[in-house]
Amino acid sequence: MNNDTYHIPVLLEESIAGLNINPQGNYVDVTFGGGGHSKEILKNLVTPGHLYAFDQDADAERNIIDDECFTFVRSNFRYIKNFLRYHNVEEVDGILADLGVSSHHFDEEERGFSFRFDAPLDMRMNTRATKTAADIINNYTQDDLADVFYLYGEFRNSRQIASKIVRARAESPILTISQFIELTTPLFKPQRLKKELAKAFQALRIEVNQEMQALKEMLEGAIKVLKPGGRLVVITYHSLEDRMVKNLFKTGNIEGKLEKDFYGKVISPIKAINNKVIIPSDTELNRNPRSRSAKLRIAEKL
Ligand SMILES: C[S@@+](CC[C@H](N)C(=O)[O-])C[C@H]1O[C@@H](n2cnc3c(N)ncnc32)[C@H](O)[C@@H]1O
Repeated sequence: MNNDTYHIPVLLEESIAGLNINPQGNYVDVTFGGGGHSKEILKNLVTPGHLYAFDQDADAERNIIDDECFTFVRSNFRYIKNFLRYHNVEEVDGILADLGVSSHHFDEEERGFSFRFDAPLDMRMNTRATKTAADIINNYTQDDLADVFYLYGEFRNSRQIASKIVRARAESPILTISQFIELTTPLFKPQRLKKELAKAFQALRIEVNQEMQALKEMLEGAIKVLKPGGRLVVITYHSLEDRMVKNLFKTGNIEGKLEKDFYGKVISPIKAINNKVIIPSDTELNRNPRSRSAKLRIAEKL
């Protein structure tokens, strides 16, 4: 499999421009995937410039780039600060995060990310992790299940979904995508079925991979390791991620609480570079429909 089929990079030019690369600086791509963004960053670097790329998925390792300016770190990006320190890096000039899963995840049937296929309910990005989507569906309490669908899928009928799952699993475990679809389809409006299933899968995926917690920790770590003037560039794909990033870039904290000093000046370690979110052009959308929900935000460390 080549990189073109693994994943087409999204908002490539815009995100590289946002990094404002210093050729001899240290950079981090926390979501390596098919390496599309990393390759573009490397084109702009010369020794001693260096790029550290993180991915928690073993499959991404097949895209590792043979370049003396490149180091791959197989880890969850929530540990960004510790792993950089392990590589003797205390400060960096720029960090790029292109969140979520890659096309590779959706296209690999057995990973269980896509409702286009029937497969075990898995959805782990890190296959060394123990909790799968099936574990959540079969073991979470009804209240916890309702919370997952409400918080991460924004379903108004989350309690109904949870109750149906709990009743069905009392008869026999729910282990496959087809079982899950058969069970939940009657709860969704037929004309919105694909959208609702996509949201339900997104909710499970976020919980399996603890995506919101990992994002919060990565963003907090990223701000700590950025040099003054360093750039943080983030591409999000759903409103929950985007809200967290937007809050942070506006106020300096995830909650979005404005803190001001005695003179009324906002106290924040970063400032947003683009107040208006950057989205893919029509040309990019035509070329790569999977880029349609992408939103790019850029901030600078003060
Ligand atoms: C949208 S893809 C990135 C694609 C990449 N920019 C490219 O051009 O090919 C996101 C990647 O980040 C990885 N990922 C998501 N969450 C992660 C986390 N918490 N820690 C490490 N890697 C993560 C996924 O495994 C996936 O390969």
